[in-house]
Amino acid sequence: EETVAAVQQIHGHFAGELVLEEKLVGEELSFFAICDGTDYVLFPSAQDHKPVLDGDVGPNTGGMGAYCPAPLMDAALEQQIIEEALLPTLQGMRAAGSPYVGVLYIGVMVTAEGPRVLEYNCRFGDPECQPQMLLLESDLLELLFAAATGTLASQQPRWRPGAAAAVVMASGGYPESYQTGRPISGLADIPSSSAQVVFHAGTQRQGPDWLTTGGRVLSVTCHADGLQAALDACYETVAKVNWEGAHYRKDIGQKGLRRLRGE
Ligand code: GLY
Repeated sequence: EETVAAVQQIHGHFAGELVLEEKLVGEELSFFAICDGTDYVLFPSAQDHKPVLDGDVGPNTGGMGAYCPAPLMDAALEQQIIEEALLPTLQGMRAAGSPYVGVLYIGVMVTAEGPRVLEYNCRFGDPECQPQMLLLESDLLELLFAAATGTLASQQPRWRPGAAAAVVMASGGYPESYQTGRPISGLADIPSSSAQVVFHAGTQRQGPDWLTTGGRVLSVTCHADGLQAALDACYETVAKVNWEGAHYRKDIGQKGLRRLRGE
């Protein structure tokens, strides 16, 4: 019914060919590699939360939170994604005379029939990048420089053990039209460390204050020994930050925790 309604709506404005794609059912995984055209270095995979509301309901957003590494990923799945998606992409780009150099983000749906590529992005993920940065012990610049100069084969990035998570705080109304210009309280009391960073996205400094300027305003990102502890740390800090209309999902990481419990 949704499809028919959408087709009828589009049809009024458009008389061309319509392509319907297969709906893929499964869990979405964000897979990342830094590539120098030939060689690559993997980043730990992450999971995002696209719908705006708890329980994965409501309209899609750019991402309301992420955790890393993704318990959904295991060695066999990683190998399958490398062989079926990453390597053919790198080989195909080389053969086409456009070797791929940079961050390759492959959005993968893990279905009952195996992983399926949903999309490619030529960038890191937002908010997946935030927990990844807290896990990365090596210098990101060295990796990027090695990618740019074709020397990635000599790189072995070091990763902190444990897990990291990010909880996005958004403006009232987001992802539809949203309010901006709201003063943000609580930020001054939050220290930054290798275990916790508040990444700003839609904020603006005004004198001593921070104001909201975007839909996804900031993400509270924490690293800890495990996913539960990282999420607890995030939500403890989220509770200290506020502005009029602020909202965030309360169930970031629950899918990962259920998987870790074997449910
Ligand atoms: N979090 C999804 C994206 O960066 O596209």
